[in-house]
Amino acid sequence: MAEQSGLSERLQAIRAQVEENLQKIADSKSIYEYRKSVFDGKVGLIGSLMREMGKIPKEEKAEFGKRVNEIKNWAQEEFEKKNSVLKELEMKKRYEAEKIDITMPAKMRAHGNLHPVTQVTNQLIDIFAGLGFDIYEGTEIEKDYYNFTALNTPQDHPARDMQDTFYLSPEFLLRTQTSAGQIHVMEEKKPPIKIISPGKVFRSDDDATHSPMFTQMEGLVVDEGITLGDLKGMLDEIVQKIFGEGTTTRLRPSYFPFTEPSVEVDVSCFQCGGCGCSLCKGTGWIEILGAGVVNNKVLEGCGIDTEKYSGFAFGVGLERIAMLKYGYNNIKLLFESDLRVLSQIDD
Ligand code: DAH
Repeated sequence: MAEQSGLSERLQAIRAQVEENLQKIADSKSIYEYRKSVFDGKVGLIGSLMREMGKIPKEEKAEFGKRVNEIKNWAQEEFEKKNSVLKELEMKKRYEAEKIDITMPAKMRAHGNLHPVTQVTNQLIDIFAGLGFDIYEGTEIEKDYYNFTALNTPQDHPARDMQDTFYLSPEFLLRTQTSAGQIHVMEEKKPPIKIISPGKVFRSDDDATHSPMFTQMEGLVVDEGITLGDLKGMLDEIVQKIFGEGTTTRLRPSYFPFTEPSVEVDVSCFQCGGCGCSLCKGTGWIEILGAGVVNNKVLEGCGIDTEKYSGFAFGVGLERIAMLKYGYNNIKLLFESDLRVLSQIDD
């Protein structure tokens, strides 16, 4: 029976057209779009064929349906084949593009590190926090009263000459010592007191080991029965953590107006172990901080009962610790922001 719908020719032509177009397609995005134009139920080249069923003579309907399904299945297979070929090609291209040459030298990324003085500050904060100390942050602009008078250093006291002070006015100054924080803490809090206070201090002083601005850390412990022995015991623990096991301290008599007795604390030389070297100038000992038993006058000035309470205090220069620990021979190296110098220290 001759076909009225000319179906064979049409299907032949569709086949040829799909084959030709699929061959031209070179990427999976285009095949996705082309798929729609072939299979769409309304406008698709093959997808829309079924809509013609109504016009097909009754006796041809079954054959028509079968042939349309055949070409649909065929086209679907062709699309699948082409799709997997394209996918594979694209994957290959991607592998090629993303190929890593593991023999290439790595790109060195510059990375920042903390300033050596910040590193020392953080290490000390960690150590003291581990011993139960709180941190008090004072202010860099301070009243003469807190920086000197309340620390048993009234006007005209000869000890004021120990520190060349930047005055902002007769009443205000740039603090010369973090010791000023001791008074604020004792005014605000009753014993037991156990604080450290790190921060910048200022003095008109400038040479290879002194800078007009430097960093100190103050320590203050006030409680019942505190003695110089407690200070010594604590310092022996701490210097081992900073300078290494086996490091010890010795106390030498000194003078500070706010402590009585006052001491200078030396550490045994961690470079030569005490036999004498250039670092300890042949003495086996290196001076690291000032300390003492808090003068009763200072405690009383803050309203603390000296019958019941006593305390010790210490003040340490952190640039000095950084210089000793990391081997800087000039404090200026810590202020010049030369990355070749600063980046060497990453503790
Ligand atoms: N404030 C002193 C200075 O800057 C250091 C110091 C010495 C602090 C003895 C203290 C101390 O707390 O008890 O030179």
